[in-house]
Parts: sequence; structure tokens; C-alpha cells
Amino acid sequence: MKISNLIEDHQWAGEDTFATDIHAGLSAPIKSISAKYFYDDRGSELFQKITQVEDYYLTRKEYSILNDIQSVLPRKLKLKEIDIVELGVGDGHKSRLLIDGFLEGGCQVKFYPIDISSKAMELLGTNIRDRPGLEIEGVVADYFAGLSYVSKKSKRNQLVLFLGSNIGNFDRGFSLEFLRSLRASLDKGAYALIGFDLKKDVRVLSKAYNDGEGYTEQFNLNLLRRINNELGGSFDLDSFQHHGFYNPRLGTMESYLVSLKSQDIFIDRFGKSFHFEEFEPIHLEYSFKFLESDINRLAEQSGFRIVEHFSDSDRYFIDSLWEAV
Ligand SMILES: C[S@@+](CC[C@H](N)C(=O)[O-])C[C@H]1O[C@@H](n2cnc3c(N)ncnc32)[C@H](O)[C@@H]1O
Repeated sequence: MKISNLIEDHQWAGEDTFATDIHAGLSAPIKSISAKYFYDDRGSELFQKITQVEDYYLTRKEYSILNDIQSVLPRKLKLKEIDIVELGVGDGHKSRLLIDGFLEGGCQVKFYPIDISSKAMELLGTNIRDRPGLEIEGVVADYFAGLSYVSKKSKRNQLVLFLGSNIGNFDRGFSLEFLRSLRASLDKGAYALIGFDLKKDVRVLSKAYNDGEGYTEQFNLNLLRRINNELGGSFDLDSFQHHGFYNPRLGTMESYLVSLKSQDIFIDRFGKSFHFEEFEPIHLEYSFKFLESDINRLAEQSGFRIVEHFSDSDRYFIDSLWEAV
């Protein structure tokens, strides 16, 4: 598998978006750290553990949907050759199912997995390998930098995968903006398969984001460890508490780290301290939940037609197949 690392290229050119974003997030009146920074080496490994716990239904449900449609998709798309582009691929265990389906259907596949985390790309390399009919070029990059890089190379009909309800990390306005930009980067007739986590019993949601094994808590606290490691921070992880809850007004899970005391955190790279009041939160993540009608509206407003919604037997999750019109 060939890997193109666009992030290292940028850092070499003197840009360090991680440092810039952390400085801005910790200086804001309501402190925040972007969810895209969860996935350093340890974060990617912890996320893999989260996906395996009973309470975290999302991965299991989506995997069962993809397993069901593995041979259905190639028959629907009727292509001899395809470029499969995946945004935020993670370890690629879901992608492998779909790729196998296309190969077994006699389709030639070029796979372009895109992820901001080089560890995710490394894990993917252990799950999927080049073989007859399949060529892989991994791209370590932010979604759109990766997509624009791939758009210049891709010559065949495209299927863009955006799985895992990654779209739920954007607020309602930005998800529409994101999908419109995605549409603008595709040719008419290209396909997208997008994973949406549905609204459901709040107790099920709450358990998924506060798993009994404590991996979600470790995953969130790992962001502070990452700042300590990469920017010379002095966070004491024991003085922050993970708090995840469902906000029914916005229709989203929200997660925070709450400072358990008044404290000043020095970060070497910035040469200064950041003050935390007792019980002051750092916002980490939104995971917006959807109704089927929300998905229909998003597709229509962003220039796609819905081909079909695929769901699991509990209707917890939908993978929605769209065509660019
Ligand atoms: C929740 S995991 C899901 C992984 C996989 N799609 C799945 O469904 O199992 C999110 C993945 O998206 C990647 N990611 C998050 N924000 C990103 C961004 N802005 N650009 C590229 N990748 C991103 C993370 O590194 C991580 O591997």
C-alpha cells in the first residue's frame, strides 16, 4: 500500500495546525478541543477498544448493515471498475467488507482511504492489503485536503464512504455545508454511502458514550496526554473528569472534560499558562443523532438523490446510499 502523508508535508512547510488549534481552543471563553485530534497512536488504539465493548452499539450495528449489503451494492452500482474513497477510514475493518464484495462481483477496485491519523492508516495496513484487482493509496490528511488530492488522481466512477456516523461530529449547519462541498468535488453519477446514527432511547445512547469499561473516559483524557506529549503541557489527568450526556433539545451527545479544581496549566510550546476555574468544562465532541427525515432533507439540500436507506433490525443506524445529481 502506498501512503501519501499530506500532514507531514505541511508540517515540514512550517504549519502546525494542532498547536494553533489547541491554543485557540484553550484561549476561547468556552474552552474546546476539536474531536479530530482524538486519534494519536494511543487514541486510535483506545477507539478500537471502544468499538468492541457491548455498550458501544454503533460499530456493531453498522458492521451488520455492511455485511448485509456487501454483495447488494456491486449489483446495484453495476460497475466494472470503481474508485472507493473513504473519509476518516479508521482501521478499515468495515471498508474491507465492501471492498471484498466488489472484488467478488468481478469489479476492479482502487481504494483511497483518507485519515488525519497516521496510526489509523498503519492499523488499516494490517487489515487490507493490495491484491489482484485491488490497489490501495492511503492519504494521511484532513477530509477535504485528502479529497481534493484524490479528485486529481481518480479517473473512474467513485463511491465515497463516510462511515461510523463521523458526520454526527458536525453541527447541523456544518453537516449541510460539508455535504455540499462533497457534492461539488464529485461528478454527476458518483455515489456516496454515509453512516448516520439514529435518535433512540436516551438510556441506550448514554450507555454507549459512558461505557462500563471506562474506555471512553480514557479516550477523552488522552487528548490532555497528547497535549502534554506533543506541546509540553502539564495536565494532571486525575484532576479532570469525563462527562458525556444527551442533549435532547439539540439532538446530540455532548462530551466534556471537567476540571475538578481551580488550576493553571502551563504549556511549554506556548510559554504560558491557561487558567481553569473549579468545574470549568472543556468541550470535546458533539455526536448528532438523526431521524430518517433529517437524512432525506440533507441529501436533497446538498444535491444528491437517495438510492436506498439500509438499516439494522433495531433501526439504530442507517447507511444511506446517495447518487450525485
Ligand atoms: C470515529 S472514527 C471512525 C472510523 C471508521 N470510519 C469507522 O466507522 O469505524 C473517526 C476516524 O475519522 C478520522 N478523522 C476525524 N476527523 C477527521 C478529519 N477532519 N479529517 C480526516 N480524518 C478525520 C479519525 O482519525 C478516525 O480514524
